[in-house]
Amino acid sequence: MKTIIEPFRIKAVEPIRMTSVAQRATLIEAAHFNLFALKSDDVLIDLLTDSGTSAMSAAQQAALMLGDESYAGSPSFFRFEAAVKNLMPFKHVIPTHQGRAAEAILFSILGGAGRVIPSNSHFDTTRGNIEASGAEAVDLLIAEGLDPDSEYPFKGNMDLARLERCLTEQGDRVPCVMLTVTNNAGGGQPVSLANIRGVAALARRFAKPFFIDGCRFAENAYLIKTREPGQSDRPIKSIVRDMFEGADGMTMSAKKDAFANIGGWLAMNDDGLAESARNRLILTEGFPTYGGLAGRDLDAIAQGLKEIIDEDYLRYRIRTCAYIGERLLALGIPIVRPTGGHAVFVDARRWLPHIPPLKYPGQSLAVALYREGGIRCCEIGTVMFGQRPDGTETAAPMDLVRLAMPRRVYTQSHADYLVEVFEELAGHKETLRGYKIVWAPRAMRHFTARFRELN
Ligand code: F0G
Repeated sequence: MKTIIEPFRIKAVEPIRMTSVAQRATLIEAAHFNLFALKSDDVLIDLLTDSGTSAMSAAQQAALMLGDESYAGSPSFFRFEAAVKNLMPFKHVIPTHQGRAAEAILFSILGGAGRVIPSNSHFDTTRGNIEASGAEAVDLLIAEGLDPDSEYPFKGNMDLARLERCLTEQGDRVPCVMLTVTNNAGGGQPVSLANIRGVAALARRFAKPFFIDGCRFAENAYLIKTREPGQSDRPIKSIVRDMFEGADGMTMSAKKDAFANIGGWLAMNDDGLAESARNRLILTEGFPTYGGLAGRDLDAIAQGLKEIIDEDYLRYRIRTCAYIGERLLALGIPIVRPTGGHAVFVDARRWLPHIPPLKYPGQSLAVALYREGGIRCCEIGTVMFGQRPDGTETAAPMDLVRLAMPRRVYTQSHADYLVEVFEELAGHKETLRGYKIVWAPRAMRHFTARFRELN
């Protein structure tokens, strides 16, 4: 059997409001060509993010009704804690309202001026929280991770030689080592078990706590199973446990690999660190048995964690991106290869060479996908990373467009439609135009910048 079918049936549906090309041309102009300014009702297929956009299962919906909203000691917390510890057996599990809240708490304790925190690639909220504390966030990704054409199976790996040098030369400034699985900022690429173990061993040798940003841990585990020698016969759960075995803690956004619409956690083994974290949590999130979440959210996460390690789900999940990637490549559209877990990244700079980086080829493609097909996605390039603190601008290393796939939301016909929209665009891509930013805030401009289409 060739087709890997969606391993679920649909019990509740949400209608998509259909719009015409002409209507969308007006809507995107009114949004100043910024896709974040669109109303989501005006989007046909929303690939802006895979975060918080999952479809819940019937079992999760049922779990919501079991949610106990007691302020302290709710059974929902204990179900949540048990579900996390079943996969990642850390001593302390502290719920937060989402991933960045866990990061903010962790770096309010471990960060600070003069400190350096290495990772494969920090996600932008992680980097933001580290920098807000005064510390420096350092990316030590392997060279293959920056080459969109490299077929290396673990392009999310940390460069262990550079990590060792960092720890040797700047060790007293390093409060912890981080690792993001999968590496979202680097194209959703996985980290191998061997590399995770290598990072853990180095951190141990230099007596540094090792934290994993585990947002997409299950996708990473499946990619270990299918790409790493010797792993193919192992259950996902035992790979997950191995991934976290050498770590001292983790941050997590349950909006990704826990099928939840909101939530996250911070976990660790160290008692002193946990006490400081809980003190901070009470100030900023809530009491340690709910941490910024409703009891029902904790139950949705607990159930989601049981479902996310299902191998049939993960096979379908990873296949979705691979399928879209293969079809785009067949049309001659350059993408970051091989496709990873949660998204397909299109190399807009290479596909639209007539638009120079400072005229934002990624933004041009993102706007065209909306106008042509009602698809919303996200530029990850010069609009997002090109702004310097002094107000000047440089080209980002790459101009990508991320097609992030919400979990269990769209079917194969949505994927086929997406490919058809690209095919349509391929026929007249030379006519796509660059953009100019006519207004931008001082930082994080991609969320609110206003654009003008160039002639
Ligand atoms: N770490 C990674 C690797 C992420 O991808 C995200 C969020 C976070 C941390 C922060 O988690 O959103 O719950 O506060 N990524 C989303 C995305 C926003 O679209 O990739 P959060």
